[in-house]
Formats: sequence, C-alpha cells, structure tokens
Amino acid sequence: AEDESVPWFPRKICELDRFANQILSYGSELDADHPGFKDKTYRVRRKEFADIAYNYKYGQPVPKVTYTDEEVKTWSTIFGELTKLYPTHACREFNHIFPLLMDNCGFRQDNIPQMQDVSDFLKDCTGFTLRPVAGLLSSRDFLAGLAFRVFHSTQYIRHHSKPMYTPEPDICHEFLGHVPLLADPSPPGSSSGVAGGRGYLYHCGGGIYFTVEEIGLASLGYIQRLATCYWFTIEFGLCRQNGVLKAYGAGLLSSFGELQYSLTDEPEKRCFDPAKTSVQEYPITSYQPVYYIADSFDDAKEKLRAFASTIPRKFAVRYNPYTQSVEVLDN
Ligand code: TRP
Ligand code: FE
Repeated sequence: AEDESVPWFPRKICELDRFANQILSYGSELDADHPGFKDKTYRVRRKEFADIAYNYKYGQPVPKVTYTDEEVKTWSTIFGELTKLYPTHACREFNHIFPLLMDNCGFRQDNIPQMQDVSDFLKDCTGFTLRPVAGLLSSRDFLAGLAFRVFHSTQYIRHHSKPMYTPEPDICHEFLGHVPLLADPSPPGSSSGVAGGRGYLYHCGGGIYFTVEEIGLASLGYIQRLATCYWFTIEFGLCRQNGVLKAYGAGLLSSFGELQYSLTDEPEKRCFDPAKTSVQEYPITSYQPVYYIADSFDDAKEKLRAFASTIPRKFAVRYNPYTQSVEVLDN
C-alpha cells in the first residue's frame, strides 16, 4: 500500500493547520526588491496579517480586518481599473459571476470584502472555503489544500506604490482573480457540475476541472508538472471565445498591467498542450513572456485529464466529503 518515500500529507481538513509555518521567501520578512521593503509602516502591517494567518486554526471564523484608508484607496484604484477592462478582457464566465459578488459579498470599489463573508458565499456556491495564509505556500501544500476544497488566501494588500502589478499574491489577486471562478458552480457546456462525474472535482477557470486525485494528491510524485499546468491555466491562462482572445487566469485578472499586456502581440502565445506546457519554465516576479491558449475549457479539461492519467502514482486516494478526509486506497 503506502510507500515510505511519500512525504507526509494531510488526511483530515484540520491538518491543513500545519502548513501555516511553511511559507516561501516573502511572508512577513519582505525581500529587498519588494515595493514595500523600505516602508516601515507597511512592514509592521504585514506582520499583523502574518500573525493572523499563523494563529488561525481550522473551524475558526477568519478574523475581521479593518483596512486603513490607504489600503482601501489601493483597492479602489485596482478595482476601478480592472472593472473597466473586464468587459473586453475577461472570459464570459468571469463576467457572468462578477455582479453576484457585488450583490452578495461586499465587492465594491470603496470596500475591501471580508474573507469570512467571501468564504461563506463560496461555500454556498461550490463548497469551497477560504483560509488565511501569510504568503506563498509550496505548490505541494497549496495543491493539497485544494483536495479539501480549501483555498489558501492572503489577506494583506499590495504596496500602494505599485497597484498595477505585484510580485506576490495579495487580497486583490485572491478576491478579484480567483474568487469569481471559484464561485461558478456550473460552467456552460459542462454537464457534470462540480459534484458530478467522479465526484470530487476542483473547478476552476470556468470549466477546467482537476480531480482531487489528479491535482491534490496524485501530485505527490509529480508536483512540479501539475503545478506548471496550474500556473499556465488557473493563474495565467488565455482562451479563445467567439474567435477572440480572453483571459481566465487569476494572475491576469488581478493585474491591470499584465491583463492588458497579455492580450497584445508582445508576448508569445501557444496552444495549451499539457505534455509541453508542463515543462515550460516561467518567471514568477514579472510579466509572463509566454501564454498558453485553451481552445475551450472543455478541451483544456479533457487534455488535462488525459495527461494526469499518465502520471505514475504510488497509491490511489479518494476524498470523502462526509468526513472531509482523504482515504488511501490499496491498489
Ligand atoms: N502579479 C499578480 C498581481 O499583480 C500577483 C501575483 C504575484 C501572482 N505572484 C503571483 C499571481 C503568482 C499568481 C501567481 O495581481
Ligand atoms: Fe493565485
């Protein structure tokens, strides 16, 4: 059954608490080239957010944050610029859901939504919940969270000096980039819906699904390639809709700089093909030089499934939604 060489992974949703102190590079200590590095006030503030995430335990409500006027101003700028671009630059699924967030969870230009409110809304829509995280998790930890339909979300906002692009995820990225598609329960053209088909599906990108087996846990051995597919779809994916290129990747939908750039002729664009895409290198702190285009969500989803099924695995796993735990199956 289980091989000793497979490192520890969470079996119960509460075990995600262990990820709290395994944050990569950024986090509370900002790197020297970070826009907030020299700003003492910003650093102190970031420490407050990091402490919320470090102390958070599964089952608790996410602490409410009173955002400062300066933080709300940053959000307003970003919200204002992005909502001007969405009608022309974002995929149709995104534009379909966005008004619901404005009606239901406090998405407004003058308000930064509270994480608990957004989490409650997502839970009603698709069963996803949010939990606060201090910074970037490893791909392995992040993907493991998805197996439980838990999306790790930052709560701080980027430094006010660089609203159009930031080198790390922030609340604008999570809420404006990811949340809309995480809230979409039944993408057009899909007969299965989130809970259909094989059951435990992670839905993203308006119809790209990864099953738990495929991305959350089978990724134990092949994390890198799946994480790269994640990068070029859910984070930076483009698709063609009615012959026109649109963005569905959250990293694009949260950056008004890169969202515009991605649809110009400057970057290279290739067809999404997991075998090739999964080994493409990419920068993580600048605009992407290469994007991959999905013909349709259904097509990308099928390709991903076919690719994931070729990944060797040591054992099979299954998610039990009643106990919110992962069961290891003997093959
Ligand atoms: N650049 C994104 C923005 O401005 C945020 C971001 C930084 C990001 N690093 C990332 C998004 C890695 C996805 C993956 O909103
Ligand atoms: Fe992201």
